Amino acid sequence: MNPTTSASTLWKITAFAASAILALPAHSDELLDRIPEVFERAAGQYDHMLSMVESDTKIPRTIKEDGSVLTVGPKDWTSGFFPGSLWFLHEYDGSEKWKDKALDYTRRLEVIRHFKDNHDGGFMLGCSYGNALRLAPSDEFREVLQDAATALGTRYVPSLGMIRSWDNPLFICPVIIDNMMNLELLTWAAKNGGDQKLQEIAVSHADKTLANHFRPDGSAYHVVDYDPETGWIRAIYGWQGADVQTPWARGQAWALYGFTMMFRETGKQEYLKCAENVAQFLMNHPNLPEDLVPYWDFGVEPGADVPRDASAAAIMASALLELSTLSDEGAAYRDFAAKQLLSLSKAPYLAEPKTNGGFILTQSTGHLPKGSEIDVPLVYADYYYLEALLRYRALLNNETRLSFGEVK
Ligand code: GLY
Repeated sequence: MNPTTSASTLWKITAFAASAILALPAHSDELLDRIPEVFERAAGQYDHMLSMVESDTKIPRTIKEDGSVLTVGPKDWTSGFFPGSLWFLHEYDGSEKWKDKALDYTRRLEVIRHFKDNHDGGFMLGCSYGNALRLAPSDEFREVLQDAATALGTRYVPSLGMIRSWDNPLFICPVIIDNMMNLELLTWAAKNGGDQKLQEIAVSHADKTLANHFRPDGSAYHVVDYDPETGWIRAIYGWQGADVQTPWARGQAWALYGFTMMFRETGKQEYLKCAENVAQFLMNHPNLPEDLVPYWDFGVEPGADVPRDASAAAIMASALLELSTLSDEGAAYRDFAAKQLLSLSKAPYLAEPKTNGGFILTQSTGHLPKGSEIDVPLVYADYYYLEALLRYRALLNNETRLSFGEVK
């Protein structure tokens, strides 16, 4: 047993003890009681959406202005979320119907198994094939995931110790906070017969992100552009946020989720501390609305006309539920996430049947500074919402529910 393994074993025991202490006796719980109705609504919505895209070989992402479904090809960064959500519907009811749909949409991504165009391979193939492997284990899925991890690893810049997020001529070597989410593919691959170097890449990337992407208040910058020759930071950008010094809501949620996941994967205490700092920053922010669904950027003046970002709330809730099993502050994180999920589980966020292009949640914001996808349904909001509900159900029922990156 090497030192990494023994540290990982130790934290898993600690995490188990923490979750055992947190486990609640069976009793009525407002959110838990609501989950069957929400999944019934979700299934009805996806039935509706699938009937609208029956002859389309692409993958749902959002809606167009006329209310029809906007679909995208496998190389779009969001391509893994719809198959992932179909796997969650199968996970919920065990039906062959959702498994068949999930398999169909998952296999539409096989053509990108060697994807190297940007850092998003983890989102695209982890959320699709990763859930496929978790719920219907097969070598077919393992092999695609190993190829995807190898391809992502080629984006590592050794002189920087980081993965280059984008090949965009506006930058030299840009790294975005979202990139943390893609590291789970690498840690999974290293633990499952892949190159051990992939684990080192994931840890190095997380270490450098920790060092360079955070403000003293615990919030994260979106884009940091590096000079790979000197290792120096050339510039920092607000990009999808309002300003370089304002906390873009979804970026904070990616940071929270990414560092929680990397603590789970490595047991490194500094990752836990980082996740806890982000959590405290978000949970105590004066601009967080009473229903706990953030405005698109925490730095903008709150107001009735300011767009919300339901996707940020869903990602944050899912991350807080995992963090609740790993941190001494577990109960506070779990209760906060439950309140967010209760808000998302009713109007105006939970879509009325056969509206919203068949998506489950309304009111997400994609890229406001670009004028793109403002106050619309977004496929990744649905994905993290369903994941969070399944995490919550498992937590309260004291059941084990692993993510794809965890080894059984
Ligand atoms: N990864 C892109 C986004 O969060 O919008």
